Amino acid sequence: MKLARFSRIGFILAAAGSAVGLGNIWKFPYITGENGGGAFVFVYLITVLVIGFTLMIAEMLIGYLGRRDSVTNFEDLAPRDKHLWKYGGFIGLTGLIIMIFYSPVIGWTFHFVLVSLTSLPSSVAIAETNFTEFISIDLGSQVFYHTLVFLFVTTVVARGIKGGIEKLNFILMPILFITIAAMFFYASTLSGFTQAWDFMFAPDWSKLTSASLVTAVGHAFFTLSIGMATILTYSASLPKDSNLVRSSLIVIALDTGIALLAGLTLFTFLYEYGATPSAGPGLVFISLPTVFYEMGFLGNIFGFIFFVALASAGLTSAVSLVEPIIQYLVDRFSFSRLKASMASGLFFYLFGMIAILSISKEYGHYFTIGSMNFFDWADFVTASVMLPLGGLIMAIFVGHVMEKERVAAQLKTQLGAVYPLWYFSIRYIVPIALVVVMLNLVGIIEL
Ligand code: PHE
Repeated sequence: MKLARFSRIGFILAAAGSAVGLGNIWKFPYITGENGGGAFVFVYLITVLVIGFTLMIAEMLIGYLGRRDSVTNFEDLAPRDKHLWKYGGFIGLTGLIIMIFYSPVIGWTFHFVLVSLTSLPSSVAIAETNFTEFISIDLGSQVFYHTLVFLFVTTVVARGIKGGIEKLNFILMPILFITIAAMFFYASTLSGFTQAWDFMFAPDWSKLTSASLVTAVGHAFFTLSIGMATILTYSASLPKDSNLVRSSLIVIALDTGIALLAGLTLFTFLYEYGATPSAGPGLVFISLPTVFYEMGFLGNIFGFIFFVALASAGLTSAVSLVEPIIQYLVDRFSFSRLKASMASGLFFYLFGMIAILSISKEYGHYFTIGSMNFFDWADFVTASVMLPLGGLIMAIFVGHVMEKERVAAQLKTQLGAVYPLWYFSIRYIVPIALVVVMLNLVGIIEL
């Protein structure tokens, strides 16, 4: 089945749209806060450069050379044991599991677009009660917003790569860039900016624990959208003669740039208005709305555009999370796009409902296993287990399974003098780093 291709700029926007998501604006600032700031940012940046960059190129290569869905690509590109390697492609399922919690959280951002216009909380205590009640009691609203996300995402992906995904990114990504730049510019004029800068860039090594190292690596994967066949699937629709190295660099620069700008902006607002940066997952939904309240009318406007931008970032990532499985169903089972989109949509819609129930006060205990509810499990299993595992499979595949000449033919000129370094990194550094991180997770190695 022939795929409609992205335009060059369309691919960059879509890949950046996938990478820049709730991870950058919601997750990055709060995990930076929780892990002590500067030292964590430093480790995260190194991981992005060393592991992220190496793997992003490898993942693009599999998609670009294979040109089909992820399962078929692994199968086609493996010189031997094709029937075994094809299972590597099923790592695309990770996206659907991420959507189980990602979609409800996009729903929260919809809710906060309205809150910004109507009733911003006047104190952190009120904000906390409002948010807790919203996510643990107000099931109806959450299901309503989750349904909107399901309908929106399914409609976009049903229209295909060109008419759906590329178009969506052409509209939403500029809105996102302009909003983040404008808010950053305003933040840089406030006095809290220096404190925010120090918090993010002056490392306090004593705050860095082994757990924060694992978090940094997991987040680097999550934020760059690597390790689950998203980038691979998009790359299958790259125009001919694309430069994979340049594309990877642009996507990584945009993703990292936006995370840093969003972090600096949020922390400036928090310092300026006396809230603490270590507020956890509630940072964007509890502390920030209070800050917007303090700003007066300007805050209503800022709140509105901020949450619209956050929703946009989430939606452009959401379409990329479901696309790998859609392409698989279309390619291998001749599903129509509509049918494939409905199938993957219904999957995350129904399990997303369970995620919503699992954080509710009334039904939560039915959906809690061990110390974690279903919602947290979906987050943990994907970010901490499946993404690193996907990265490991891809690194081994490109570094040790695919023919050397084939890899070199594509990348040697594009990487130039860096090629041997890259090849060494994909063969040894990345797999070893990932194995260490994963063993650390199950407690076999203490970093
Ligand atoms: N990168 C997205 C974010 O930061 C999430 C995502 C992960 C999207 C994996 C696609 C694949 O929010």
